[in-house]
Amino acid sequence: MKNKVHVPPIKIQGIKTKLVEQISDAADIDENTTWIEPFMGSGVVGFNIAPCNAIFADTNPHVINFYNAIKDGTITSMAVREFLETEGKKLASLDDEYYYTVRDRFNKDHNPLDFLFLNRSCFNGMIRFNKSYNFNVPYGHKPERFAKAYVTKIVNQVAWLEKQFPHNNWIFKCQSFGETINEANGDAFVYCDPPYIGRHVDYYDSWNEEQERELHDALVSSNAKFMLSTWDESKYRKNEYIDLVWSDCYKINKEHFYFVGAKESNRNSMKEALLMNYDPAEIIEKNGDKEQQTVINF
Ligand SMILES: C[S@@+](CC[C@H](N)C(=O)[O-])C[C@H]1O[C@@H](n2cnc3c(N)ncnc32)[C@H](O)[C@@H]1O
Repeated sequence: MKNKVHVPPIKIQGIKTKLVEQISDAADIDENTTWIEPFMGSGVVGFNIAPCNAIFADTNPHVINFYNAIKDGTITSMAVREFLETEGKKLASLDDEYYYTVRDRFNKDHNPLDFLFLNRSCFNGMIRFNKSYNFNVPYGHKPERFAKAYVTKIVNQVAWLEKQFPHNNWIFKCQSFGETINEANGDAFVYCDPPYIGRHVDYYDSWNEEQERELHDALVSSNAKFMLSTWDESKYRKNEYIDLVWSDCYKINKEHFYFVGAKESNRNSMKEALLMNYDPAEIIEKNGDKEQQTVINF
């Protein structure tokens, strides 16, 4: 895949925008494959790979409602522009008071447009819910957030998806990974990006060793080809579950850098891993840039 990566309208922690090309290059798929993504999050991976047939799922109902609303035309790019322009003006004049008005309204009505508004004006673009399943991320303190150029950027992201839907058979489902993997048939390829183990974030997004093992067993017994994103090691820690749970898989690594704060000295390296139940060497040879990838069979 050498095309520009399109960023979807919903942002989420752990979004794989920077890994789409590597995932695409190592995915063993063709035009008959049904793409199954049990942990879709923002959807950036599958949307860019753009399979004809796909099941996108997640346990976060707001993500699924949002994409279903675009798919069935309840939300259009024009409606998004109108909404963000109107609500953005209220945010600019009332500041944090208005952010919390929308947050309360969303926690009552679950309107997908309010979800988009909060996702783009909350602190650090995070998605986090408390144990009563209420969105609880504080305000990002940017009253001018919805300036014209930013609204246009979001509108274009929605418009890009609007164009994809009529050509593809994409289904969005709010369900846990076990149910989604059960739907994998002979032509399926399952790409999994579960919450990174050991990094509990919120109530739609917790993860533990039992779930990691359940996921492994569900994938193995599905008989489908699968790929899993996980972390390999950081400066401080190694992901011990790769050896404990996924030792029957092939592994590809990619080093990538992230910043903690603004200083160059805070640039930390994190090694990401892709694990799969097939030898990716041939697929990468065909699709990708070999020099960027090291295949480790262990
Ligand atoms: C790391 S994020 C996925 C990010 C996505 N690949 C992207 O690039 O935007 C993990 C997702 O898994 C979802 N999730 C957490 N537990 C789940 C479960 N048991 N079944 C299905 N989805 C789950 C979360 O709501 C979250 O959206």
